[in-house]
Amino acid sequence: MALLIGNNRLNLKNQEFDQPTLRSLWLEGIDWLNKTSVSNSTLESELLLRAAFGLDKSRFYAQLSDVFTGNGLTLFNKLIQRRMSGEPLPYILGRKEFYGLEFLVSKTVLIPRPETELLVDLALHKIEKKYGSFIADIGTGSGCLAVSIATHSDIKKIVAVDKSFDALKIASQNLAVHGLSEVIDLVNADLLTSFERNVKFDLIVSNPPYLPDAIYQTLDPEIKSEPKVAIHGGHDGLETIRRLVDQASLNLSRHGVFLFEVFSDFSNEASSIAAQSFPNANVVIHNDLLGLPRVVEVSSISSIKY
Ligand SMILES: C[S@@+](CC[C@H](N)C(=O)[O-])C[C@H]1O[C@@H](n2cnc3c(N)ncnc32)[C@H](O)[C@@H]1O
Repeated sequence: MALLIGNNRLNLKNQEFDQPTLRSLWLEGIDWLNKTSVSNSTLESELLLRAAFGLDKSRFYAQLSDVFTGNGLTLFNKLIQRRMSGEPLPYILGRKEFYGLEFLVSKTVLIPRPETELLVDLALHKIEKKYGSFIADIGTGSGCLAVSIATHSDIKKIVAVDKSFDALKIASQNLAVHGLSEVIDLVNADLLTSFERNVKFDLIVSNPPYLPDAIYQTLDPEIKSEPKVAIHGGHDGLETIRRLVDQASLNLSRHGVFLFEVFSDFSNEASSIAAQSFPNANVVIHNDLLGLPRVVEVSSISSIKY
């Protein structure tokens, strides 16, 4: 039996289609994925095959010569078709690794990105230096920032906010999986608007939506399949950031720290906005591993509007 995609039948040499082995299916998957823009077809074919047959990595490599048929094969066909139609791999697998932890994801949340791990590094550094014990994660999505920070520190309370209720359902599952439902409170709200002025966070972290219209329009359809509310930052890409920074200036404690991710092309604009709302604070831009400006840090001194 060969993989059937639509009416096409893959014609691989030296394959015994009636008795497909894991290896032959793996190769067929690679061939199909190579017909699309999937760049890491070898790994993706393996991951989809393992998902279809419920195999961990060691069983997969141990059983490459074994024959695999039945429902798993039908499912593998379907998963390959979904990937070929441009659905992101993490949505198909239902999970994505971030900061060494596994997160459930669905099309209601942004797929956590490796560059966002810098925010966790910086937050943990501040926590170590005793800057933060009461923390807010604004625009939590899958909950990846709040969960990573809570897992790698002894923080007792994080408030994680998102205006998307559907995203919070996924975040809630991730809190449960990581045993953090008592540590992280989920709030369905618009940025910091649900907090009174007298609520003061020691540390505010956020990866807000920040792409401008012009760039959003040109995005690859695969990225556009992620929620627009998670990516699109308004006409100039800075609309959410302006509101967030203004609100943070009311809810950050006197010696608090505010860390937010930015679109690297607009890091200077974002830090200027922060400097206006926090006139006496230190505003620093941190680069990611690629050397791109990625996170704005605002270390408050006496700039808070009380
Ligand atoms: C870029 S995603 C970040 C998700 C996650 N924190 C991460 O780093 O992967 C932005 C998140 O902010 C949420 N969001 C957008 N506008 C918001 C608003 N005005 N108030 C609260 N959350 C908002 C989106 O629903 C989305 O989950």
